[in-house]
Order: sequence, then C-alpha cells, then structure tokens
Amino acid sequence: MYAISSHICRKAERVGGRLRYLILGALTRSTYRIDRLKMSENRQTYEDYAQKGHYNHQDWSQRWQNQTTKWHVEEANPHLVENYETHLQDKDNPHSSIFVPLCGKSLDMIWLAQKGHQVVGVEVVEQPCHDFFQENKIEYKVQNLQGVEGKVLTSQVTEMNITIYNCDYFALTPKLLGYRFDSVWDRAAFVAINPDLRCDYAKHLASLMAPSGRGLLVSLNYDINERIHPGPPFCTPDALVQSVFSPLALVQKLSSTLLTGQRIERFHLSYMDENINYLKFNKE
Ligand SMILES: C[S@@+](CC[C@H](N)C(=O)[O-])C[C@H]1O[C@@H](n2cnc3c(N)ncnc32)[C@H](O)[C@@H]1O
Repeated sequence: MYAISSHICRKAERVGGRLRYLILGALTRSTYRIDRLKMSENRQTYEDYAQKGHYNHQDWSQRWQNQTTKWHVEEANPHLVENYETHLQDKDNPHSSIFVPLCGKSLDMIWLAQKGHQVVGVEVVEQPCHDFFQENKIEYKVQNLQGVEGKVLTSQVTEMNITIYNCDYFALTPKLLGYRFDSVWDRAAFVAINPDLRCDYAKHLASLMAPSGRGLLVSLNYDINERIHPGPPFCTPDALVQSVFSPLALVQKLSSTLLTGQRIERFHLSYMDENINYLKFNKE
C-alpha cells in the first residue's frame, strides 16, 4: 500500500514539475513575444541597435568565468575545413603564418597547426589562453610581454607551432611580433568586436598583414529587430562587411548558409545567415 501511494506521489510530483515547467515556459515565451511585438511596432535603425550592445573586457572575462561560452565548439570549424585548401593553404610555404584574432581556446588553432602552419592567436582573457594548452595537453611556456600589458604563451611542442598573445587585440603590433601575418582566419572575432570599433579593427588587421596577405572572415546576418538584447555576435550584413573592409582589401563573398532551429535558438532569432568572405589585403 505504502509502495503504491509513494509511487503515485512521485508520479504526481513529476507531473506537477512538468506542469510548472510548461507554465513557466509559456509565461516566458509570452513575455518574449510581447517584447518582440513592442520592438516590431518600433523598428530600430542599425545605429540604434549597434549602440545598445556594448561589451568590455570585464564582460568577456565574466563569460569565461561563468562558462557561458557556447561559441566554443569541440571540433574544427566546417567552413575552415571546406575553404582551407582553396583560400588559405600556401603550397609553396606550408609553414606560413596564420593569425586567429580573438581566439578564445578555439580548436581551429590545433587544426591549422596540424597542417604545418605557424599559428598565432590573440585573446584578452587569461583563462582560455591557459585552458587551450592544458586541455589539449600541449606543453607551453609563459613570458611577460615587453612594453605591453599582457603575456605570451608559446607551445613547446615542435610539431604544434602555436603562440597565444594574452593581451588586447589592439596592443598586438608588427613591432611586438617582429613580422606580419601571411593569412588570417576570423571566426567569431569581427562579429564580436564592439560595433563602434569595427573600422579600427579592420585597419588594425590590415596593418598586421603581410603584403598580399589574405584570409577568411565569417560574418553574420539576421533581423536586428528580433534581437531584444543586442550583443555579440553582432549583425554584420554584407554591405557593412564591404564598407568596412573594401578600403583595405578585396572582399569576395564565397558562401552563405542559412542557420535555423537549435543552432540559433539561444539568440531567439528565427534565422541567421552565416557568410564566408575571402579577403585579399593591399589591393592594387
Ligand atoms: C565570441 S568569442 C570567439 C572565440 C573564438 N574566435 C572562437 O571561434 O571560438 C570572442 C573572444 O574574443 C575575446 N576578446 C574580446 N575582445 C577582445 C579584445 N579586444 N582583444 C582580444 N580578445 C578579445 C573574448 O574574450 C572571447 O574569448
């Protein structure tokens, strides 16, 4: 008798829990819909949108501390894999340098190093820099940077030529590096930088690239009116990519992938286009 009643109680609890979950979910969704309705009544300009979502170093640090880093994936980026041979590989110089701006602890760096490249990342938050080497079991050494606030973490494994500058992106200069990069792989960097810094970001990138440097840039497009709390990843439509980069590089859009469902659920967007752009710096 006791067993039957406790079974019924557990079942009731589960049903109750599920009901609470459904009611809460419905309430959240309806609040969200109301917010969205308000926004669509009052459609914002791109300038309004761009001004709202400012992120500083502290915010990024918080994201790493709280492990709210869903941009980080446990495999090499499929667009990198797909476009590498045609747009990044240099058969005459298999050890060419590849820059990974705002690198986090991206496994793309491992993939590129395994291809034989000299890989250089820059990341302002210290934790992912160490996590990168430790989680991938790569021995590394840490040195203070000269004249710049930050550190440099360097792989001690010969077949993994990876260096991460733990400093602000804008503090990394050709003088500090002693050379310029042959190519760049920009995934979740241009779209993460604050909108008011985009032109500076692009100019700075151009200053870090060797003559005839090239690269791939992933940009994103979505309906800004669907984004209640703007913030990274920022919407970077084709026209914006062109206007920011075309004074510095030839820009060629290679592909566009429509993302829907689970991949963008967390942003509360109905769609997102992930665009791959080829950049060729120092255009003649
Ligand atoms: C969206 S994450 C992308 C990480 C990586 N590119 C990837 O694909 O996994 C952006 C990263 O840029 C870093 N970041 C933001 N602003 C930066 C800056 N000014 N200089 C260097 N790193 C920065 C953040 O800490 C964060 O790790």
